[in-house]
Amino acid sequence: MSTEPFYGPDFGRLRREDPEVAQVLLDELRRVRGGLQLIASENFTSPGVLAALGSTLTNKYAEGYPGRRYYGGCEVVDRAETLAIERARRLFGADHANVQPHSGASANLAAYAALLQPGDTMLAMALPHGGHLTHGSKVNFSGRWFDVVAYGVRRDTELIDYDEVRDLALRHRPKMIICGATAYPRLIDFAVFRGIADEVGAWLLADVAHTIGLMAGGVIPSAVPYADVVTFTTHKALRGPRGGGVLCTDELAAKIDRAVFPFVQGGPLMHAIAAKAVAFGEALRPDFAEYGRRVVDNARSLTEGLAAEGMRPVSGGTDTHLALVDLRSLNVTGAEAERRCADAGITLNRNTIPYDPEPPTVTSGIRVGTPCVTTQGLGPVDLKEVASMVAQAVRSPETAGEVRKKVAALSAAHQVYPSEF
Ligand SMILES: Cc1ncc(COP(=O)(O)O)c(C=O)c1O
Repeated sequence: MSTEPFYGPDFGRLRREDPEVAQVLLDELRRVRGGLQLIASENFTSPGVLAALGSTLTNKYAEGYPGRRYYGGCEVVDRAETLAIERARRLFGADHANVQPHSGASANLAAYAALLQPGDTMLAMALPHGGHLTHGSKVNFSGRWFDVVAYGVRRDTELIDYDEVRDLALRHRPKMIICGATAYPRLIDFAVFRGIADEVGAWLLADVAHTIGLMAGGVIPSAVPYADVVTFTTHKALRGPRGGGVLCTDELAAKIDRAVFPFVQGGPLMHAIAAKAVAFGEALRPDFAEYGRRVVDNARSLTEGLAAEGMRPVSGGTDTHLALVDLRSLNVTGAEAERRCADAGITLNRNTIPYDPEPPTVTSGIRVGTPCVTTQGLGPVDLKEVASMVAQAVRSPETAGEVRKKVAALSAAHQVYPSEF
């Protein structure tokens, strides 16, 4: 490795040259250091990931793919993308990886563009039951461009209704079936989805934006052996930079690559791709599997703690990094709970629960997740304490100041980005 000085992030200089923006960066760091982050889709990236993101690779135009670019001078950034591709393939056991999607939404758009035509039928999980906007919501391109049929969870078990999925597939003959969700706490049976897709001759897309980080460590079963195409994000449990990716078989590789560029995107974000390579490298180490296991153990502990406080977990619990909690027995809406927790220094989001009587801006539930607090070093015993803090914040808003002190103490004992970083 070269010993030349590296021209990298220089916070002192930003502070002198643009104190207003520097203050924003500092305040955000203070915000996360002073509270607890229970947003299921967030995480704290490593110093290595942040260094790659703050690097001069942001300057380089590199339309195309390694060795096949439309710009000169790409021989160095090619190495970053090749590393990211090779590491992603190894990590997930996939034939092919495209690491250029700017986000999970872009990855899905590219997967649809590769395999569907506007007007085709897709079968996907309904948004109010845990599906994602890009799975056919009317307010998203997917709902406007495709004929969308939605499946959901059963009212009694709050688990995916595989019989309904099969019935709808046989009735509507979709060209694509999408599995994967944004607010579903349980494992998804990819083998069952594969069987249904084969029965009706549909493509199977697994959007594992949320759970890819757990699949990386082998903590939960992978979608890769079952789906034709797997889309994912790199910034959730996987603990990489904000971004997306696509995995697929060799047969679909050229179609997926052409769909990402030039169909959906222009120049790739080479600094983000280098940061993805760093994150995949970190996830290949054995301690990442241990991290994934702790994320799930922590989510179970948090969910049990909330249940003991009278906050009902949807589907009775969790197998993953997140839980959905029904607040109706407390007579508090999701929106109100989100506000009360924020007052106590706990960041989480309101979320619709299946068959929610409230509109999406209000909701009857909250979603909580453990990737951030696990990265911070909290364990299952701490998560029981976090559950009682959430319960106190939601039930007794007049004690927000008291909860805030407990939150600050726990957070200080497990500092995010300690000062030596
Ligand atoms: C299942 C699923 N797909 C796609 C996305 C979109 O990812 P992004 O916000 O990076 O576009 C998300 C984001 O939460 C998601 O949960």
